[in-house]
Parts: sequence; structure tokens; C-alpha cells
Amino acid sequence: MNISVIGTGYVGLVTGVCLAEIGHQVTCIDINEEKVALLRQGIPPIYEDGLEELLHRNNTNGRLHFTISYEEALQNSQIVYITVGSPPKQDGSADLRFVDAVCRSLAQHLRQDTIIVTKSTVPVGTNEHIKQTIVNNLIENVTIDVVSNPEFLRQGNAIYDTFNGERIVIGADNPGALDIIERINQPFDIPIVRTDLRSAEMIKYASNAFLATKISFINEMANLSEKVGANIDDVSYAMGLDKRIGKDFLQAGIGYGGSCFPKDTHALLSIGRKSNYYMPIIESVIHVNQNQSKYFVEKMIQRLGDVTGKTIALLGLAFKPNTDDMRGAPSITVVKELLKKGANIKAFDPIASENAKKVLPAQIDLTASIQEAISGADCAVILTDWKEIKEYKVRDYKKHLSNPIIFDGRNCFTREEMQEHNIEYHSVGRQV
Ligand code: UGA
Repeated sequence: MNISVIGTGYVGLVTGVCLAEIGHQVTCIDINEEKVALLRQGIPPIYEDGLEELLHRNNTNGRLHFTISYEEALQNSQIVYITVGSPPKQDGSADLRFVDAVCRSLAQHLRQDTIIVTKSTVPVGTNEHIKQTIVNNLIENVTIDVVSNPEFLRQGNAIYDTFNGERIVIGADNPGALDIIERINQPFDIPIVRTDLRSAEMIKYASNAFLATKISFINEMANLSEKVGANIDDVSYAMGLDKRIGKDFLQAGIGYGGSCFPKDTHALLSIGRKSNYYMPIIESVIHVNQNQSKYFVEKMIQRLGDVTGKTIALLGLAFKPNTDDMRGAPSITVVKELLKKGANIKAFDPIASENAKKVLPAQIDLTASIQEAISGADCAVILTDWKEIKEYKVRDYKKHLSNPIIFDGRNCFTREEMQEHNIEYHSVGRQV
């Protein structure tokens, strides 16, 4: 099939590269000339495991192309994927400015009957609006079908998830359009769920909101476990053995971040408000998450007392490992709270430092290694469960910290290994 993909952000680029990998002819369009030039040379603008290899292979075998021209891309495409961002507006609702702009540009350039496939996460009803916007602006007499095909990719694992996902959801009001998109996806060999447009849109929000709920739920249980003398590791392990609950997303910590869970839970609330339906569960999930990193800092202050002038080493800044993304990262709250209390901050992240500079106050000392961050510090604080942080030798923490105290917001170590090295260890949902 000849496919165009509009937008080469993380979703668009991964989609384009993977569709080429399973044999389709794919042209990705982006308005950013610089980005397009890099992609043509096989240089990915984002860090994503396995992306560079697939990009290079499909550039070389001629199945993957990049352009800034709608005209060039749409010449032979009967299928167009929309994968531009839907960032949150001030009130939490999704900003559809980019989606609308794409629809208007598309309408000007469509010369044949086309199926539009929306991958962007958009509020329920948006795909009907997309179709209407395109139809209203068409200059040729062509037929448009719209299919909602939400993505369930985790950043950092997006290529793996594309080939190993548990379901592909496609929703449309025209079964013929669904048949074609089903055929396109067949080589992935993943169960395909066919549904209507609005249900497909809803599935994406409901899935992300449910995963966020699991995290806030286990964090609430963790905070209570600390108070009542229980151990959250055992609690979540035993809960997870029950298949009805499931073991994933029960890892307690300092809360979820990223561009998806915070954005989509707020967007869902906003959809509820517009539909005149109050959603107390989602509201609480957001509330618990916002408090979780603050609560963690409160525990630190309770132990350390006045931190004015003390040096605190933060380890990990990205919202999760294997990404340089700082969007919604709990580290942002931790930094702000600690600076308010007068602490000096040294911080290390294996790859997110450049992005961290853009969102964190300038007075933070960003270091090039764990050792540099913790040397002479009054305590170490683990905020992201990076492999290199988890594998850093406990005895080296002891050696370099001026006070052997660790606050671990991601439960990377056990109490026993810390006790062995005489390190005072505070984690989430376990006893000190
Ligand atoms: C999430 C979903 O997992 C994807 O299925 C979805 O497609 C994507 O959003 C999206 O909407 O595009 P992502 O934001 O990349 O993916 O990250 P996750 O791996 O899900 O982690 C999100 C946050 O939850 C991280 O801050 C992580 O540290 C935290 N988390 C995750 C926990 O605190 N505990 C857990 O048990 C799991």
C-alpha cells in the first residue's frame, strides 16, 4: 500500500518506520525542513530503542521517504495517517489546532478517494469533526473515510510495542474502510479489534486513565503501608498474582509523569465536564498523583530538618528510564519544592540533561556522572529508575556521600542491601 504519515513526532515517526518495515511504501510529511533533512540521512530526532536501525534500513531499501510537500506525498497515497500532537490547553482539554491545520492542508491536496487514519489522541467525536473539516475544504470531488486507530505505545519501547502489542484498535462507521486498514495491519500479527469511531476514541482515553488509576491506587496503598508497618513490594506482588488485578503498573513510586497520562486524564475530565458528567475517580487519580512527589519531599524534610545550604544529589530527571523526555516529570516538582526550602541541588541524568536545562531552574548543578552528583552530598535522592542508577554499587554511594542517606522514589534497592552497607534508606511504601 502507498501510505502517507503526517507529522514525524514520536508517534508519526514510529508509525511510518514500522509500516515501511512490514512492506508498505511510506512517505512521512513534516513542516520542519531541518527535521526532514535529518530523517532523510537516517538520523532520528528522538531517542527510541531500535528506531535508528529501522529508519536506516527502510531509507536504504526505498520504502520510506520524507518530505515537506503534501503534493509530493499525496500523489499516490490512498491512505493518510494523521499523527500530529494534541497537547493540553490551559483548561486541560485537548488542543486540536494542529489536527485542524492538517485537515485544511489535506483538503487542498487530496486528488483521489482517501482513507484518513487518526492516530493522534483526540476527544470523542473528533474524528467526525476531522471528516467534516476535510469535506468542507475539499477542492476535488473525492470521497473521504475516517478511521480512528489509537496507539498504545510506551515511549522508549515504541518499536517493541508496535510489533508486540496486545491489540490494534480500529474504529470507523464504514466497514469497507475498516477492511482496508485491517489488511494494512495484518503483517503485525496482533489481534485487531474492530469498532465504531467513538468507541475507538474512548478506548484510548479509558486505557490510559485505567493505567494511571492503577499507579495512583498503588501509591495510596504504599503511603498507607508505611504508616501501618506493611511492605508495598509484598502487597503489590500478591495483589498482582490475581489475574483479575494483573501484576503490571503496580510499582509504587513518586507518581506517573510523561506526556500521556497527565494529559489524557485531564482531557478525560474535560470531556466529562463537557458531557455534564462528573468523574470523581479520574479527579482523585490526578490529585493523588500530584501529591505523591510533594509527599516524598515532605518525608525528606521530616528526616533532614532544615535543608538550607545542604547539598542534595538527585539521580534521574526524566519521567521514566530510556527516554530524555522531561514532560510531566515528577523531578520537576521535587526540584521546585527543594529549592523553595533552600537546598543546593546537584543532579544527574544519563540522557535528559539537555531537556532538563530547558525546564528546571538554572541554579541546579547538572553533573556528568553519578559519582560527581553524590560526591560530598548530604543525601542522594533517586527519582528515575535508570539501569545505571540501579546498578551503581551500594558501597560507592557509601564511599562518596558525605552522609550515607538515600531517599529512593523508585524502590530500586532493598532495605537489606542498604543495611549491609550501613546506609540509611528511605523508599516508598516500605519501612526504614
Ligand atoms: C503511556 C502508556 O503506557 C502507553 O500505552 C500509551 O500509548 C502512552 O502512554 C500514550 O498515550 O502515548 P508512556 O507515557 O510512554 O506510555 O509511559 P509508561 O511506561 O506507561 O509510564 C508512565 C509513567 O508511569 C512513568 O512516569 C512511570 O515511571 C510511571 N509508572 C509506570 C509507575 O509509577 N508505576 C508503574 O507501575 C508503571
